[in-house]
This record gives sequence, structure tokens and C-alpha cells, in this order.
Amino acid sequence: MSKRIEVNDLNVYYSKFKAVEGVSMVIEPRSVTAFIGPSGCGKSTFIRTLNRMHEVIPGAYVEGEVLIDGDDLYGPGVDPVLVRRQVGMVFQRPNPFPTMSIRDNVLAGVKLNNRRISKTDADELVEKSLQGANLWNEVKDRLERPGSSISGGQQQRLCIARAIAVEPEVILMDEPCSALDPISTLAIEDLIEELKKDYTIVIVTHNMQQASRVSDKTAFFNIAGTGKPGKLIEYDDTSVIFSNPSVKDTEDYVSGKFG
Ligand SMILES: Nc1ncnc2c1ncn2[C@@H]1O[C@H](COP(=O)(O)OP(=O)(O)OP(=O)(O)O)[C@@H](O)[C@H]1O
Ligand SMILES: [Mg+2]
Repeated sequence: MSKRIEVNDLNVYYSKFKAVEGVSMVIEPRSVTAFIGPSGCGKSTFIRTLNRMHEVIPGAYVEGEVLIDGDDLYGPGVDPVLVRRQVGMVFQRPNPFPTMSIRDNVLAGVKLNNRRISKTDADELVEKSLQGANLWNEVKDRLERPGSSISGGQQQRLCIARAIAVEPEVILMDEPCSALDPISTLAIEDLIEELKKDYTIVIVTHNMQQASRVSDKTAFFNIAGTGKPGKLIEYDDTSVIFSNPSVKDTEDYVSGKFG
């Protein structure tokens, strides 16, 4: 189910503004890759190009290639809706549908994809997805309660359950723990460890401990100054990035000297 991502010389624009320049990288299946770097260097912009969420902004476009198992995400005739089904996304703030039940929140993506599904299959999928998101035991007795009736950390796991219910191959997470307390953060980190057995995972984080705890590879992005495009500065095994990076700026960033 997990897929390999290959990015070749990608430039990312908001109209005339080039926000990210010249990114090339390979992300292996069944791995966790962390994107780190100072605010404004283009981490969110870049991660959104991996499931064609960037272009929903008027005037936004990319140059270059993103291949998923060799298929160009931006090739002619590729349906962005299908892409987003293969490549799921979890956002910074947990965003369950607040009045929709926990059960329906899990099924929301599946129903959006117009998949008809029997009650029994739906029940199974809800349980499997909530199990997968490590939330089942906490909510199994209140599946009909609204999505807003659980804690922030539980809501974020609910959003992860919603993402995995459509059986994606890749899961993108843009600062999924930034609105969470330390206990919920650890729960999400444990979950990421579990999920990587089945999925390719990319996570943006400002938390260096988190990057070093959860990821196999780390990509450090930086900008030369305001108005300049963000660039991928160094990409390597997480242990190398944090203990023996080859670029001075990487070392300064991971040791907290800036950003
Ligand atoms: N919708 C948009 N329209 C125009 N420019 C944008 C838009 N979103 C982001 N930008 C610009 O693109 C650049 C990269 O922003 P981005 O949000 O990707 O950075 P980031 O690395 O995710 O930062 P942070 O760590 O603060 O989340 C910034 O200069 C930002 O102002
Ligand atoms: Mg961001």
C-alpha cells in the first residue's frame, strides 16, 4: 500500500512569487520523513504539492515533477481528487466536522469519494480506522457523539482515522501536534511509529525532539531572506542531520541557533 515519492527539480509559485525553488528528493515507502526549517521557508507550501492541495489557491502552480511510484502526479489527465485519495493529509489544527458524529467523521472521506458502503462494512471500517488511529478504545462507547465532544488530542487522532479510512498510500501531516499537549503529542508519535508499517509518512514539525524521535529521514529547508524562495538545504538520515550534518546552517538550526 505504501508508495515511493520522487520529486524532481520542483519550483512552487503563488502567482509571480516563487515560494520554493529547485527541490529534488526521494521519499521511500514505509518510512517517516520530517520537514524542518524556520518559519516561512516553504515547508507547508512544499508538502501541499505532494497531494495537489497547493493549486486550490488561485494563481498557485508548480514546475517540475512529483512521481508517486513512477507516475507523475501532475501528468496530463491526472485527477487531483484521486490523487488526494491516494495521498491523505492531516492538518495543524484538528479539524473534525464538529456537529457530525465520531462515526460519521471517520466515514466522511469515504462518503465524499462517493463510495457506496453497507452498514456492516461501514461499521467494520469505522472500527478498523479508529483502531489504526489508536482511538477505538477511548470512543467505542460514544460513536454517535459529536466530533467536537472529545479532547484535542483525540480529535487529531480522529482526523488521522478519517484520513486512513480512505486507504491512502501516503499520509502528509503538517505540524499535527502543534495544538496538542505533551501526552497527546506522544500518543500521535506512537501512532506515527505504528502507521509507518503500512504508509509512507511525511511530517512537518518545529519540534526538533519530535523530528529526531519519529523520523527516519530529515529534510532541512531554509530561506536566504524575505522574498527569496525556500530551498532544500540538506536531506539525510535523521541521525546524520542531528549529529553530523554537512551544512553549517543545518547544524545552526538543529542546535537552536536560529529559527
Ligand atoms: N496563500 C498564499 N499566497 C501567497 N503567498 C503565500 C501563501 N501561503 C504562503 N505564502 C508564502 O510562501 C512562503 C512559504 O510559506 P509557508 O507557509 O509554506 O512556510 P512554512 O515553512 O510552512 O512556515 P511556518 O513554519 O510558519 O508554517 C512565505 O513567504 C509565505 O508568506
Ligand atoms: Mg507551515
